[in-house]
Amino acid sequence: MTDLELIEKALYGYIPKGLTYEKKLVESMAYSLKAGGKRIRPMLTLEFSRICGGEDSSALPFGCAVEMIHTYSLIHDDLPCMDNDDMRRGKPSNHKVFGEDIALLAGDSLQSLAFDVMSCEDTVKKSSAKASVRCINILSRYCGTAGMVGGQVIDLENETKTADLDAVTECNRKKTAALIKAACEMGCVSAGADEKMIAAARKYGENIGIAFQIVDDILDVTSSDEELGKPVGSDIENNKSTYVSLLGIEECKKRVDMLTKEAIEALDVFEGDTTALKELSLKLSNRKN
Ligand code: IPE
Ligand code: IPE
Ligand code: MG
Ligand code: MG
Ligand code: MG
Repeated sequence: MTDLELIEKALYGYIPKGLTYEKKLVESMAYSLKAGGKRIRPMLTLEFSRICGGEDSSALPFGCAVEMIHTYSLIHDDLPCMDNDDMRRGKPSNHKVFGEDIALLAGDSLQSLAFDVMSCEDTVKKSSAKASVRCINILSRYCGTAGMVGGQVIDLENETKTADLDAVTECNRKKTAALIKAACEMGCVSAGADEKMIAAARKYGENIGIAFQIVDDILDVTSSDEELGKPVGSDIENNKSTYVSLLGIEECKKRVDMLTKEAIEALDVFEGDTTALKELSLKLSNRKN
């Protein structure tokens, strides 16, 4: 089984079953979870667990949890009151199929499902109660006010003014790097790694996370709807201040390379084989979608 198959099998296994009256809600959650996506966050969780000597089965629930939070963030991000985008992962956005009310609630339900998955008996059995509590703490912090949601608010505030580079960096650190960082740290925690390794995972995640959003902003200008699976030109349409609008594409590419290099250097503390993580960060810096 490939890593992608491993992740998707585990992820789909968590979709609620047997609900009659709430069928539409579950269909809406399943629609976005199954719509594809690169699954880079759960892949990072798996890879960090592996270099710390962990079992895939211990890391997978936490990887699935961060993918659920990420998927919820995308459903809400596309809503008309946010970025107002009609396409996601190559398909009509959740609210175009299920309506804004159900899309909003599907996002809410994916969020609580993530915490159910991280705290359930089966997950605790596969890792430990200590790892489970620590991961809940990491993900709750990075997905909320101090992380993804906070970053989305900074992003909205920046629409009404030309933000400076510090404000855009802070936005990217929170709206995008925070969940990527959570994915990396949780991989280490699920494997019982020490604080030095967790801190290195945080550094790697922060760097590739900021680089990831810069590449997303570049692709919003240079790619096509077909290749990206979501509408290009969304940032200009919404009057967003981005790295690209402030620095131009060439300077952005240099920053992506620098951040990627720093991320790779952070891997030095690990004794396990970090080849896959090095390759993944390079692949992400050159991605086309
Ligand atoms: C898109 O994330 C949103 C950002 C944080 C830039 P991804 O590019 O990881 O989206 P999927 O999961 O592959 O669809
Ligand atoms: C996404 O930023 C950040 C999220 C937390 C969802 P964007 O708004 O640029 O993401 P896309 O381009 O719609 O995927
Ligand atoms: Mg957005
Ligand atoms: Mg968007
Ligand atoms: Mg974007």
